[in-house]
Amino acid sequence: MTRIPSRKFDILIIGSGAAGLTLALRAASFARVALLSKASLEQGATFYAQGGIAAVLDDRDSLESHIEDTVSVGGGLCHRDMVEHVVGNSAAAVKWLVEQGVPFSTRSGARILRGNGTGAGVDLSSLHLAQEGAHSHRRIIHATDATGKAVFQTLHRRASENPAIHFMEGRTALDLVVHEPGAGAARRCAGVYVLDDATREVSAIEAKFVVLATGGASKAYLYTTNPDSASGDGIAMAWRAGCRVANMEFNQFHPTCLFHPHARSFLITEAMRGEGARLELPDGSRFMERFDGRGELASRDIVARAIDHETKRLGEDCVYLNITHQPSELVRDRFPNIYKRCLELGIDITRDRIPVVPAAHYTCGGVVINRHGETDIENLYAVGETTFSGLHGANRIASNSLSECFVIAFSAADSIHGKIGATDFPGSSPDRPDSRAESGDDILISHNWDELRRCMWDYVGIVRSDSRLRRAERRLELLREEIHEHFRRYRISRDMLELRNLALVAGLIVRSAGARRESRGLHFNLDHPDLLPEAADTVLAPPQHVDLLRGDQPFS
Ligand code: FAD
Ligand code: SIN
Repeated sequence: MTRIPSRKFDILIIGSGAAGLTLALRAASFARVALLSKASLEQGATFYAQGGIAAVLDDRDSLESHIEDTVSVGGGLCHRDMVEHVVGNSAAAVKWLVEQGVPFSTRSGARILRGNGTGAGVDLSSLHLAQEGAHSHRRIIHATDATGKAVFQTLHRRASENPAIHFMEGRTALDLVVHEPGAGAARRCAGVYVLDDATREVSAIEAKFVVLATGGASKAYLYTTNPDSASGDGIAMAWRAGCRVANMEFNQFHPTCLFHPHARSFLITEAMRGEGARLELPDGSRFMERFDGRGELASRDIVARAIDHETKRLGEDCVYLNITHQPSELVRDRFPNIYKRCLELGIDITRDRIPVVPAAHYTCGGVVINRHGETDIENLYAVGETTFSGLHGANRIASNSLSECFVIAFSAADSIHGKIGATDFPGSSPDRPDSRAESGDDILISHNWDELRRCMWDYVGIVRSDSRLRRAERRLELLREEIHEHFRRYRISRDMLELRNLALVAGLIVRSAGARRESRGLHFNLDHPDLLPEAADTVLAPPQHVDLLRGDQPFS
């Protein structure tokens, strides 16, 4: 079999979303960086982000207010130091994005900043600020209703122009290479095993530093707002390598995903409720006031549970979002992409109500990191949605995720900068040719995918119970055995890797959910509906790490 030769980089970043691109750009002045992405570069959640980026830019707003809103939504589990770090640096992140040329929407309506890459002459106070759920001020910076696309395209363009950044598209990281020096010395990440998606060849890439920027795991659920890439690969790789993960039970369900047979995973931004859109039952009556005094702008856990409750009570498939009372021009200018997509499906949002349902949206838990993005393994960093930093607690407030991606990527770049001068390449890592020549049965893989995602939706969804969690655990155990067997026997493919990772991560979600004997934030269990007096994170540690270098089963 042919092999891709091993390559060496100062920093190998896995993932080309907001977190990965930001770190690459920040590190390119002092390091040779590789940016690895499975499928195409834009296949992360970042590209699809709609609402925007939370930051304090208005004199009437304050950092204290943003911190309090974040902590209050986080249900007692936010780490205050991390909240202060991210909130305190969000405005600087927005300034940097403007300097990169991100065309954010301005207060004067349709006019958009055309950044020239220097940010010269840009007055941040001219940016339009949107409102989203549970924020006590307008503080969401956005590019109409396609903020993620604007951010991705701008950062991608800047990174493509930078000779220190080397893109590797269509490559799936399958496991981390970890050196075990022995005699009490710390374990060190030395690189990554990578699958070439097209040729299905596996090779090792060496790096002084490896960064997981692989996004979340919402594909574990049958209905999700996320793209296919969200299979929890970074969490699974880190776990197999010996890192702790935390708070995996806190899976955020976005209340308003478009409900239409021909629309897959299309979000209707919370910012639409920020502009006055109302949630209605099929008979036109509003219901949110019955659940929370903030009505449609209550936090996401409350709105999603209210919709779940009402649809089940009435035996309906969906509820409706209604913005028809607002002037058509405002709706079209403010939400041009949603307007266009819905119109393609026969829904004119200036005249028709939008059918919506909750769908899995964000993974609050993940790989345990500190404020510099450092994990439990030396020279292994993690940034973005794949992490557990302590920022979100038991429930993420809207638009804090992108802020976290930028701010922690800045900190991680600074941390690596401080270490890189004293860091050598770790010594060669062998390629691991995959001797399994036979291709597996794709139908079995896709059936396993469906079963896993349906099981998680049915038993580990918005409302949980002990018996549902036990049932999920039994089903997942069986699925994991089948997937493991398939993985052991057949030639590796990206689908198989993602399924293997999702099965592991789904198991971590169920285990964490089972361990929480209370209802808090996004985790609601009918058998334990109350809050425990003490708020505590659910931190899981792998029973043993797999020695990927010396052990003979790097991919099992
Ligand atoms: P991603 O953008 O998901 O990127 C992950 C990258 O890793 C991808 O390039 C992927 O291909 C790559 N990857 C994964 N596994 C591997 C592997 N094994 N090998 C190689 N590459 C791999 N948050 C906000 O703050 N504001 C919003 O308005 C907002 N709107 C949203 C709307 C939608 C529809 C969705 C889905 C999410 C939204 N979020 C929003 C959440 C936010 O977009 C994400 O949390 C954030 O973009 C995550 O960025 P990231 O860089 O961590 O990961
Ligand atoms: C949205 O636009 O509603 C998504 C915002 C977020 O997930 O933070």
